[in-house]
Amino acid sequence: MMDFICTQSYDEMSIKAAAIISAQLINKPASVLGLATGSSPLGTYSYLSEWYSQGIIDFSQAKSINLDEYADISPDNKQSYHYYMHKNLFSKVNINPDNTYIPSSEKEVAAACFEYDSIIERLGGIDLMLLGIGHNGHIGFNEPSDRLEKNTHCVELAKSTIAANSRFFSSADTVLTKALTMGIKQIMQARKILLIVSGKDKAKIVEKAFFGDITPLVPASVLQLHQNVTVIGDKEAFSKIANYI
Ligand code: F6R
Repeated sequence: MMDFICTQSYDEMSIKAAAIISAQLINKPASVLGLATGSSPLGTYSYLSEWYSQGIIDFSQAKSINLDEYADISPDNKQSYHYYMHKNLFSKVNINPDNTYIPSSEKEVAAACFEYDSIIERLGGIDLMLLGIGHNGHIGFNEPSDRLEKNTHCVELAKSTIAANSRFFSSADTVLTKALTMGIKQIMQARKILLIVSGKDKAKIVEKAFFGDITPLVPASVLQLHQNVTVIGDKEAFSKIANYI
């Protein structure tokens, strides 16, 4: 089942997403949170950090597992998702660093992928998975393809993804082109999914992914088969689906 929450702004989207994550932590302090990077969750992480500093939420028992990481990047490289998570969330809340997991960009790829799936299993699965969506419908870095990849794997990023991510880099040439990502199985097995999306440029893909055909050519469309998905989007991102929700 998919619920859609339309907000007036990116900020309101972020508050609502942070509120859902906070409720999860209050109800189950030892929750396993699946986390994303990119622009979409920055506001959410900022509210979570603020509410932690105000004593409203506590991460001491929480565990986190990130969706993806570039391949062949050192964790202290500013472009890495390790760095992003540390900067935007982990350094600002009381999560135990030993309980935070991000695909290893330093190990041999097959071993790193296998190990990541075993970690998710050992943690007992993901309670709440936070997702963004790419302009081409990717979730994590599961790019459009003729088949869905089940488990954690290494991907060649799509040209459009490299172009979109180039805003984080000094020039398009230095953008990393390979990443490790959770597969569709790990994402679909999360007990709850929270997808956040904002901006007019995502309106088309929101319509296609959630009201179009379910196809590996639009990886996010598989979320239509999940039993507990909440999509929070600002009115620009939801502009093409106003009639359906
Ligand atoms: C990030 C991730 C990606 C992003 C997507 C949207 O960990 O897995 O799927 O969620 O590319 O990115 P933004 O939020 O920057 O538009």
